[in-house]
Amino acid sequence: MSQFLHLLAILLTPFIIHGVVSSSIIFESLNSIPTGYTDNGPAPVDSVLSLRVALVQNNVAGLHDALYAVSDPSSNLYGQHLSSLEVEAFVAPTLDTVAAVAAWLLINNVSAKPATPSGDWLSLSITVGAANTLLATIFHTYTQTSTGETYIRTLNYSLPSELQNHVELVHPTVSFTGATNPNGLISPFITSRSIPRSATIRAECAEYITPACLQALYAIPTTLATQPSNQIAVSGFDGRYANLADLHASPSNTLHHRSKPNFNVYQLFLTTLRPDLNSSTTFTLQSVDGGINPQNASLASGEANFDTQYTVGLASGVPTTFIAVGLNSTDIIMEFLDIITYLVAMDQPPQVLTTSYGFNEFVLSPALATNLCNAYAQLGARGVSILFGSGDGGVAGLSNSTCTNFVPTFPSSCPFVTSVGATTGTNPEAATTYSSGGFSNIFTMPSYQSAAVTKYLDTIGSLNTGKFNATSRAFPDISAQGTNVGFAIDGAASLFSGTSCSTPIFSSVIALLNDRLRAVDRPPLGFLNPFLYANPSVFNDITHGSNLGCGSTGFPVEVGWDPVTGLGTPNFTAFLNVLGLSA
Ligand SMILES: *[C@@H]1O[C@H](CO)[C@@H](O)[C@H](O)[C@H]1NC(C)=O
Ligand SMILES: *[C@@H]1O[C@H](CO)[C@@H](O)[C@H](O)[C@H]1NC(C)=O
Ligand SMILES: *[C@@H]1O[C@H](CO)[C@@H](O)[C@H](O)[C@H]1NC(C)=O
Ligand SMILES: *[C@@H]1O[C@H](CO)[C@@H](O)[C@H](O)[C@H]1NC(C)=O
Ligand SMILES: *[C@@H]1O[C@H](CO)[C@@H](O)[C@H](O)[C@H]1NC(C)=O
Ligand SMILES: *[C@@H]1O[C@H](CO)[C@@H](O)[C@H](O)[C@H]1NC(C)=O
Ligand SMILES: *[C@@H]1O[C@H](CO)[C@@H](O)[C@H](O)[C@H]1NC(C)=O
Ligand SMILES: *[C@@H]1O[C@H](CO)[C@@H](O)[C@H](O)[C@H]1NC(C)=O
Repeated sequence: MSQFLHLLAILLTPFIIHGVVSSSIIFESLNSIPTGYTDNGPAPVDSVLSLRVALVQNNVAGLHDALYAVSDPSSNLYGQHLSSLEVEAFVAPTLDTVAAVAAWLLINNVSAKPATPSGDWLSLSITVGAANTLLATIFHTYTQTSTGETYIRTLNYSLPSELQNHVELVHPTVSFTGATNPNGLISPFITSRSIPRSATIRAECAEYITPACLQALYAIPTTLATQPSNQIAVSGFDGRYANLADLHASPSNTLHHRSKPNFNVYQLFLTTLRPDLNSSTTFTLQSVDGGINPQNASLASGEANFDTQYTVGLASGVPTTFIAVGLNSTDIIMEFLDIITYLVAMDQPPQVLTTSYGFNEFVLSPALATNLCNAYAQLGARGVSILFGSGDGGVAGLSNSTCTNFVPTFPSSCPFVTSVGATTGTNPEAATTYSSGGFSNIFTMPSYQSAAVTKYLDTIGSLNTGKFNATSRAFPDISAQGTNVGFAIDGAASLFSGTSCSTPIFSSVIALLNDRLRAVDRPPLGFLNPFLYANPSVFNDITHGSNLGCGSTGFPVEVGWDPVTGLGTPNFTAFLNVLGLSA
């Protein structure tokens, strides 16, 4: 980490230099305020902004090549994942870049500090008045009408032309990615239900899904993993807390309300739905940016509870970590960046990361989406499988909303993550109408999926032409059960639905496979997609259903890959066979 960081520290010491104005160019711009926001006029000049500046990385193409070299099963380097220093070397800015940016900040009397080990992001605290000058713009306050949440953003900003090849972007500016509320996050739906403790598997699976149903459907082993160095991590964002009492405690067959005061007498998830596991099995907590996980029952989040219950409770015996990311940066999209930066820098990052949160792709500027996508490439190169839910609004994006053209979601639209859609039912297992899927408007189609996607496009012919970019990255890649999945929250048994369910379920399957690989001294699966598209036989192909949205019937499910269920749902036995592992 290097000379760059060291040099930055020296160069960024604040000096007072009176400014020189050079010609400036518009860096990023929007034509109009995004739908759903109103403009409240110029932001108060004394408000303080936490700005992040992304510097141009020295060798992004090299990073992509290195990622594919270790992730493509046909490559000699397959499985030879990179160290944090090797990864950081691709994204560190050059000395020229560091010098140019440092000079610009000095001239403007602004001090900044590196926000990543490689120094490719800087963070700085600045008043709106100073930021208006620095970026030749006028920041406004916008209100998101649906939530009342306010954002300080701008429709365009400029930097001196000398920085064109040195700065990627400044955030928050033109990306309306939200602050603390769950705006733009996948919003799963919860139904309160009682879950009988000892229903027979076949009977219960027709009505709702439990760990036992998933084990039966996907041949997931019930036996304990054996490798303590093989781990799975769950992303937890500010305000979404995972409750331990809901994970452990028991025998409640009845419905309780969130406010029920004596919830502690009930014992929930593990005892009810994994009676064969040690009911003390738990997850550990890791904190990024000061993130916390308070154990106040009324603060338990459906998402965080589900994600921890279906990793601890399905990836039997795999050490599970809940990574709580605090909000001490600019907004939630920087939480998305900070958790990845943190994991890239670890000596031994967890081999699987499951995240059931996302955005509509259009709220991110292409530069910001591209930068984050390259952060996923860095973590993939380290050997981590990164899974994201595809969204719950069918072709309308994260949630059911008005649209004409289809709305892709991010991070699913990034070619370096594995996107998970949702299925329902067992006879047959079919797509859910809300399973988001489609085509990016930012990222081009990666070669690993071009044959599968081209076959699909040939099958549907001219259906929905003009509503999506047929040459772009297509998602989801895979799917798993996502409707009426039993879990526990605030002392009550409930059912959870959404691609939020499918993501930790599939992630747990990958964690158990990594355990088997580790046991025979083989590397973890890492970035999954090249392997998955090369081995469609590891899936139960889903051939029924379609997703809906934007007043259309969306995309139909077809034989092979489709933009609703991807390649299909997992068959653990078939995975073992393809990997040459014994059962
Ligand atoms: C430079 O910044 C410092 C601290 O932020 C401030 O006290 C000082 O007045 C600034 N100088 C100029 C010339 O803007
Ligand atoms: C930049 O945004 C402002 C509104 O904040 C607008 O008046 C101006 O025309 C925009 N400039 C460009 C080049 O888009
Ligand atoms: C269950 O786990 C707890 C905590 O790790 C441990 O103390 C206890 O011995 C375990 N019980 C059994 C039966 O393995
Ligand atoms: C965020 O929080 C962490 C831990 O509390 C702290 O070390 C770090 O400096 C903070 N970062 C910013 C940008 O405030
Ligand atoms: C739990 O959270 C609720 C809502 O924030 C609050 O009213 C209550 O005081 C908290 N209880 C404890 C024990 O912290
Ligand atoms: C396709 O992507 C481009 C940007 O790459 C975008 O301008 C266009 O609107 C997209 N088309 C549709 C139908 O969304
Ligand atoms: C979307 O919402 C509309 C209006 O509430 C409803 O009629 C439609 O069924 C919903 N579509 C989906 C896919 O949920
Ligand atoms: C899962 O894969 C195994 C091995 O290829 C196969 O025998 C079995 O039929 C598959 N299960 C399902 C449900 O397709």
